Amino acid sequence: MNTKIWLSSPHMGNNEFNNIKEAFDTNWIAPLGPHVDGFERDLANFLGEGVSVAALSSGTAALHLGLIMLGVQAGDEVICQSMTFSASANPIAYQGATPVFVDSEERTWNMSPDLLETAIQDRLRKGRKPKAIIVVHLYGMPAEMDQIMDIANRFDIPVVEDAAEALGSSYKGQMLGTFGAMSILSFNGNKIITTSGGGALVSKNEAWIKQSRFLATQARDAAPHYQHSHIGYNYRMSNICAAIGRGQMEVLPERVQQRRANYTFYKEAFADLAAIQFPDEPNADYYSNRWLSTVLINDKKGFSREDIRLALESENIESRPLWKPMHLQPVFANAPFYGDGTSERLFEKGLCLPSGSNMTDEERARVAARIKACFKEVAV
Ligand SMILES: Cc1ncc(COP(=O)(O)O)c(C=O)c1O
Repeated sequence: MNTKIWLSSPHMGNNEFNNIKEAFDTNWIAPLGPHVDGFERDLANFLGEGVSVAALSSGTAALHLGLIMLGVQAGDEVICQSMTFSASANPIAYQGATPVFVDSEERTWNMSPDLLETAIQDRLRKGRKPKAIIVVHLYGMPAEMDQIMDIANRFDIPVVEDAAEALGSSYKGQMLGTFGAMSILSFNGNKIITTSGGGALVSKNEAWIKQSRFLATQARDAAPHYQHSHIGYNYRMSNICAAIGRGQMEVLPERVQQRRANYTFYKEAFADLAAIQFPDEPNADYYSNRWLSTVLINDKKGFSREDIRLALESENIESRPLWKPMHLQPVFANAPFYGDGTSERLFEKGLCLPSGSNMTDEERARVAARIKACFKEVAV
């Protein structure tokens, strides 16, 4: 059997292990410590725009605290991009609120500004002003932030950017994760950088970040005994995970280049296959970290993305369909949805190709050869 090629596997640099050893040597083995503080500083410096950062146990936890900071409560509605991973929407339900899903547009595959406006107007007509808008930068591609921020500001609804997949991407030269009232990052094992598991909440509002750190540490009031006047959470990042994160921050720019090189490789490899379409950046305003290289399979002979996925699987190569939209998920069957079929089409045709920054030339060639062979098999 050929060796496994993963969709997106962890890729350590030179210093992660030294940082962990240092944490052991100094006995900072807890969900606080110098690496947690340092990782927060590293992220804030990288993102710029004067943001503050709370390092947390996951991106999902970050989104949950973000919604709490925005006052989302039981009975509220929160608008959320439909085409995304379930973790973008689950924290809405944790708060007892209802997600209102909005479809994507074709250029970036992210939230359609037109449908966002339609959704807001319809919810207002029903007397239900949404409490927040969760916009996702899928696979690292920036959403249409100018239009989305303009609509959100006009209706006075805060935006939460789900930048879990988009660390290192930018829009008009500004880092993603710095546009919304709040944003979240993920350092899960498959992300562009990882802490094994972890996330961060980002905001220019330092008071929110401080309050998030407090809630994430079981909401312990200042007292010698255990005193609580808020419901707390155990959501803080471990100093060991942050030690990995600090090493990963040193190599983040390199990881972005390596992931972007994967995309360029696939694009060149399949240049003569009209059935494979690539989601290019619409123009120079959009800069994607290319967390995952994705394609649409538009074969007229009825050859599907599933055929390609299975062909790759038969050679021990992992690929995945695009995210299945939330409005198609049984768990959200009753949630309102404003759409025009775009995310359904994307889901039907889209495939994520192996995209690790640690892929070798030989591995990329193996992926390309297997896909090209599929089309040859169909042609005969
Ligand atoms: C779009 C999106 N949002 C949220 C998350 C949740 O992040 P985490 O796994 O760190 O909780 C992920 C990834 O897992 C994601 O891809």
